[in-house]
Amino acid sequence: MGRLVKMSKIININIKFKVHESVTDLDEQFSNLCLKAEEAVKNAYAPYSQFYVGAAILLENGEIIAGTNQENAAYPSGTCAERTAIFYASSKFPGVKIKAIAIAAKTKSTVFKITKPVTPCGACRQVIAEYEQIQNSPIIILMQGQDKAVYECNSIHDLLPLMFNQ
Ligand code: THU
Repeated sequence: MGRLVKMSKIININIKFKVHESVTDLDEQFSNLCLKAEEAVKNAYAPYSQFYVGAAILLENGEIIAGTNQENAAYPSGTCAERTAIFYASSKFPGVKIKAIAIAAKTKSTVFKITKPVTPCGACRQVIAEYEQIQNSPIIILMQGQDKAVYECNSIHDLLPLMFNQ
């Protein structure tokens, strides 16, 4: 007697991102946004991780809102640079569409280096995804580390396929 083999379907999701050799390969508005994220890094409060992050958001009205990671002795109480910036942008300019978010990071640690571009954590991806969904247009995500390379995604869907949706 042969075993009954059930065929399940496999779905392949294709995600893509660009790798730029340096910010100088970007359009002026995006290289400027990366610079704003880099400038914000100095305002990060990250005494526990020594992982200093800045994020800069370009809104459709031309405003740029920057934010940084803010840590806390009760560790989970802190928050990432991306969420600081995006929540502030939505509080100051509710309903104004987000065109792009740039992320930069630095450390002075001798124990680890931030070489590759920093990609947002899962919670920040979910938050970016919600704003992308409500504004009904993609948010460009530009990611930098301490080396020159910049990763660019055209939409959060390339970072968070199968996002949670109510
Ligand atoms: N962090 C960010 O602010 N953004 C990221 O994309 C990655 C992680 C922060 C959270 C924490 O303060 C520190 O970096 C180390 O995880």
